[in-house]
Amino acid sequence: MKKVAVLVSGGGTNLQALIDADIDISLVISSNPNAYAIVRAENNKIKTEVVSWAEYKNIKSIKDVSVGRARFSEFILKTLRKNNIDLVVLAGFMIILTPMICKAYHNAMINVHPSLLPSFAGKGFYGLKVHEAALARGVKLTGATVHFVNEICDGGKIIMQKAVEVKDGDTPESLQKRVMEAEREILPEAVKLLINGNKV
Ligand code: GAR
Repeated sequence: MKKVAVLVSGGGTNLQALIDADIDISLVISSNPNAYAIVRAENNKIKTEVVSWAEYKNIKSIKDVSVGRARFSEFILKTLRKNNIDLVVLAGFMIILTPMICKAYHNAMINVHPSLLPSFAGKGFYGLKVHEAALARGVKLTGATVHFVNEICDGGKIIMQKAVEVKDGDTPESLQKRVMEAEREILPEAVKLLINGNKV
């Protein structure tokens, strides 16, 4: 059986969807010590680790944030290895990891993104910002994507997508709510595919 880790930063509705789908999760790593996702993990007796991005970002001697990002990624990789993790799921994880960790978990790290990739992707497109951009562009369809993580932000091979219609009068929040429902459908499905060793 593959050992699964889930990386989170916030509310953890995607983590909850994985828990509700009876996916066996060995470890939850949060980049944010105050993430509600940690409470969800603890409620389900899942081991948790906090690797605070704020601390790495703010190391006084480090002027260049890329050094902090590299150290943050190295520590996450060390934690994953220490726990013998086979599959890493980024579920609402808001920090861009370095190519080093993407290579170490090549075809073994996936992410859920709140748009139909390749639209509204890359640095700066996360959370509500994605839905603001979709509404500003006037797209009629948006959705959710699960994809492998590689060194290009949101650029890895697509595993699964689900389209969501944009409705008249949608706000970023109302659109986000419907897209998150789609995420909660496809993320557990994709994780099960990979756990069972299916080719995607
Ligand atoms: C989700 O919509 C997820 O797709 C998005 O943040 C939200 C977090 O939800 N992730 C990104 O934008 C990453 N680029 P959750 O914490 O409730 O699962």
